[in-house]
Amino acid sequence: MARRVLGQRNLVFVGLMGAGKSAIGRLVAQMLDIPFVDSDHEIERVSRMSIPELFEAYGEPEFRALEGRVIKRLLKTGPRVLSTGGGAFMNDTIRTMVLNDGLSVWLKADLDVLWARVSKRDSRPLLKTANPRQTLSDLLDKRYPVYAKADLTVWSRDEDKDIIASETVMALARLGRGQDTVPIP
Ligand code: S3P
Repeated sequence: MARRVLGQRNLVFVGLMGAGKSAIGRLVAQMLDIPFVDSDHEIERVSRMSIPELFEAYGEPEFRALEGRVIKRLLKTGPRVLSTGGGAFMNDTIRTMVLNDGLSVWLKADLDVLWARVSKRDSRPLLKTANPRQTLSDLLDKRYPVYAKADLTVWSRDEDKDIIASETVMALARLGRGQDTVPIP
């Protein structure tokens, strides 16, 4: 049922850095027996640069333009699970594409959970600030009303990843049974 809801569409994970979009997305893809793709990895593959290198060399606007092109292309092939970088859904053009062509899941998490995860690594250019926790908190305030436009919301908390992934699959299945509001094409 959950897989049928998708039809040929991608299940697109959106949400802040540290929400678990790639880890949970990968598990959901396994559960649905469809391929998994990560837009940040795809950006790194086509540019042959890491995300921090891209930000450093070309700046955020160029990164966003590349991100938009990559996601537009990835949305054309489905069904599969597509995990996106945290800023992608904030871009009007990308968000419209995702809402029209995919089925979106916002992996929502609170600040403490996000911070515990992102502070372990040094790979996020946007958090290279004097007070990265505050920066993350500001991003949360700005972005959460926009992420809320996603078709589904799943709480990503400090819990076994398999449980969060199962809850995502169940939310999809509920959609298929008409217990949610998104029309099935
Ligand atoms: C970004 C999130 C990152 C990456 C880039 C910008 C953002 O991806 O795309 O550093 O704007 O939130 P993750 O959400 O996978 O960390």
